[in-house]
Amino acid sequence: MVNDREDASAWVRTVVVPAAGMGTRFLPATKTVPKELLPVVDTPGIELIAEEAAAVGADRLAIITAPNKQEVMRHFEAFPDLVETLEARGKETQSAKVKRAHSLLNPIAVEQDKPLGLGHAVGLAESVLAEDEEFFGVMLPDDIVLPMTAMEQMVAVRNKLGGSVLLAVEVLREQTFNYGVFDIQDTDDESVKKVVGMVEKPDPADAPSNLVATGRYVLDRKIFDA
Ligand code: UTP
Repeated sequence: MVNDREDASAWVRTVVVPAAGMGTRFLPATKTVPKELLPVVDTPGIELIAEEAAAVGADRLAIITAPNKQEVMRHFEAFPDLVETLEARGKETQSAKVKRAHSLLNPIAVEQDKPLGLGHAVGLAESVLAEDEEFFGVMLPDDIVLPMTAMEQMVAVRNKLGGSVLLAVEVLREQTFNYGVFDIQDTDDESVKKVVGMVEKPDPADAPSNLVATGRYVLDRKIFDA
């Protein structure tokens, strides 16, 4: 899909999808099937992410892959024989499902040789960005975020205030021990907070807020220097 917005510099052009983890929480399924290909009803998480990235106008999906997880990239291939067979049998709905991932946007593989963590995975994406791309999106397939256009609002905040923008969701205080919890200050805008710190999986009594991190980030490219 081609980004048709007039000012591309004000839009997220590349979405990075880290997909090179070991998926230990889903063993034994993830012995042979990458976590990112596990289905939500009938669609793999990685395709839902591609759909979300396309919905916010991105035209590049930089997928961080592991040497033993090549099937993740294969999901975006055209599968002409399968399409032809389905269409010859009049199975148009199924054929459309097969073709969809291939038509959404341009996937680019970036290999992470060893699972050295999420930060390392995101750090590998710099080579994919255009020189004038000052920020980019990161979407984790572990989290489903609705509406699919949530990142549009994050980019609008970035364009107004600069820096990086992280998506938070509200949870019950008792649930904060499961999450990375933001320490925040208010801004003039009720829906935008300034992050001053973060506590990973705190005791609820020590949680600095009930706003927790989800897998959506708009990151300034300066993060690569860090
Ligand atoms: P997770 O921590 O949820 O993924 O990382 P994981 O390591 O595969 O899962 P568990 O804890 O062992 O079950 C969030 C995302 O970051 C990717 C994962 O593939 C996942 O999409 N990731 C994680 C990488 O790309 N590289 C890494 O080294 C670690």
